[in-house]
Amino acid sequence: MQHYRIAVIPGDGIGQEVTPVGLEVLEAAAQETGSFQLETESFPWGSDYYLQHGQMMPDNALKTLESFDAIYFGAVGFPTVPDHITLWQLRLAICQGFDQYANVRPSLLLPGVSGPLKNKAPGDIDFVVVRENTEGEYSGAGGRVHRGLPLEMAVQTAIFTRAGVERVIRFAFELARSRPRKRLANVTKSNAQAHAFTLWDEVFDEVARDYADVWTERVLVDAMAARFVLKPESLDVLVASNLFADILTDLGGAISGSLGMAPSGNLNPERRYPSMFEPVHGSAPDIYGKGIANPIAMIWCGAMMLEFLGQREAADLIVGAIHSVTSKGKVLTPDVGGRANTREVTDAILSAVRAH
Ligand code: NAI
Ligand code: MG
Repeated sequence: MQHYRIAVIPGDGIGQEVTPVGLEVLEAAAQETGSFQLETESFPWGSDYYLQHGQMMPDNALKTLESFDAIYFGAVGFPTVPDHITLWQLRLAICQGFDQYANVRPSLLLPGVSGPLKNKAPGDIDFVVVRENTEGEYSGAGGRVHRGLPLEMAVQTAIFTRAGVERVIRFAFELARSRPRKRLANVTKSNAQAHAFTLWDEVFDEVARDYADVWTERVLVDAMAARFVLKPESLDVLVASNLFADILTDLGGAISGSLGMAPSGNLNPERRYPSMFEPVHGSAPDIYGKGIANPIAMIWCGAMMLEFLGQREAADLIVGAIHSVTSKGKVLTPDVGGRANTREVTDAILSAVRAH
């Protein structure tokens, strides 16, 4: 039997509510399939930890995490600590430190969920955004000078390396090739950002020659935003830079019914380091403590984690259980028009996992 060690970082806000229930579903899938065991260790890193220690996680955190098979991450950020500190010192430090360069973010309108778009049914929204996750606009290069003076200035530089662009594009082509429709959209803004994105487009065209079976197109990011709303059924796999894909995937979550349904995996495809699985949503301080956070994104992240670890059957079991609960349309949280709470949705999914 396979044995996996999972590092768990619930983080802040609703991260603390959806992470434990996500673990319950993972445990149920382990028991039902009997093909693996999970050993979990939880780390209390987040905004409270920062207020006590002056940093989001200890200096040796990456060393500690490195020995795990995967990281199951809730969300970080709370009004008590500036957002750039929480995000940079925790999530981005892990993504960059572990070279998790492919951030995979599916958008799927599930049966039983009525999304905000008119005349779109399940099946019309079923695409995956591959986000470059280690450089681009979030490389962290830059600085501020003349602080506090009238001539204060800030420089935030986007970094695009040929190697960094090529590897994420190649990953996206492989993903597109593995899906029935085999379509890949290259999303840039090379008309306005004529240095970085012409390099990106050239690399895309070069890599495309190795994938003659994948149908490709080039779409500017602003036009793509409109297409998410007007014609999402035309989308299959998309690849985009760190910032563009960050923005587009919140929209992807919204058109799929709720941000509370959107999972994501930060992958180091070569498996030199652990990959990290986390919902697209943040810590939602506005609903924290009410017990009504939608746990589906976090539970689905668990399925993505199992799939990446090679436990396809267990992953399918969890995704199937999510489908069976949403399609009945009865036990849903308020963000998708229901009246159930986190516990009730989790219990319904647990029953579906056990009843397969
Ligand atoms: P958010 O994603 O936390 O919330 C946006 C809206 O969606 C809110 O109205 C919230 O109630 C709703 N929502 C989000 N997840 C939900 C769920 N599971 N169920 C039901 N409703 C849900 O984004 P926001 O408000 O911009 O950020 C809040 C904090 O989270 C900030 O500190 C931000 O920096 C942080 N954040 C952290 C991320 C991470 O850890 N990966 C990602 C995005 C934001
Ligand atoms: Mg985001």
